[in-house]
Amino acid sequence: MARKKIIAGNWKMNMTPSQAVELIDTLKPLVGNEDVDVLLCVPAIDIIPAMEAAKGSNIMIGAENMYFEEKGAFTGEISPLMLVDAGVKYVIIGHSERREYFAETDETVNKKVLKAFEHGITPIICCGETLTQREQGVTIDFIRQQIKIAFLNVTAAQAASAVIAYEPIWAIGTGKVATTEQAQEVCKAIRECIGEIYDEATADAIRIQYGGSVSASSAPELFAQPDIDGGLVGGASLKADFGRIVCYNK
Ligand code: PGA
Repeated sequence: MARKKIIAGNWKMNMTPSQAVELIDTLKPLVGNEDVDVLLCVPAIDIIPAMEAAKGSNIMIGAENMYFEEKGAFTGEISPLMLVDAGVKYVIIGHSERREYFAETDETVNKKVLKAFEHGITPIICCGETLTQREQGVTIDFIRQQIKIAFLNVTAAQAASAVIAYEPIWAIGTGKVATTEQAQEVCKAIRECIGEIYDEATADAIRIQYGGSVSASSAPELFAQPDIDGGLVGGASLKADFGRIVCYNK
C-alpha cells in the first residue's frame, strides 16, 4: 500500500499570532504538492488565526501538545475538546522537549495518545534517543520501549492511522542531521515493532516521519527511503524553506 507522505512543521515556541498569519500567507503559494499532506503544528494561541489564514489552501493546522483530561482544574493546559472545536486534526505528543522540560514520560504520552484517539485527533507520537544512548548501542531497544508504552491499549485501527516521528535528540536543532542510513534503519525498526504489536497491515499503514535538522537539501534523500513517510520540521518550518521541503520531489 502506498502511504501518503506527511510533512509537518513544528513551530515550537515561536511566532506570535500576527506573525503566524504573515508566515502562512508566505507559505501558502509554496506548498502545493498533491503527493504530500502538509501540516503546521503551531502554538495554541496561534491555532485559530492560523486556521483562518490557511483557509482555501492545502495547509492543515495542528497542535503541539494536549492534555489527557477533557476539562477541569488544570491551569494552563489545553483540552482535546478545545482542539476539536477549533478544527484541529493532528497533535504532536511527547516531543523530546516536552519530555525534557515538562516532565512528560512514556506513561503520560500513552494517556495523551489514547485521549487524542478518543476525540478523533491523530497523534504524531515522538520518539528518539540521546547521543549517549546511540553511542552505547541501545538506540533500537530504547525506541522499541518508547513505542510499546505509547501504544498500550491503542487498537490496530487507531494505530494504523497514527503518525510516529522518529527524532534523534542529538539531531534536533543542532544542524546535525542523522545520515539517511541511520534514519531509515530506525524507522524500519519502528515499523517492525508496530508489526509485532499488531500485524503487517498495521505496520504497512502507519506513517513514520523523520525529524531533526531536516532541510531543503537533506529532505529529498531522507523522504525517498522506504520507511520514511515524511518529516517533522522545526527550524526550517519557520521560513520559506519549508516550501522547498514540502516540494522535495518536484
Ligand atoms: P529541527 O526540529 O528541525 O529544528 O531540528 C525538529 C523538531 O524538534 O521537531
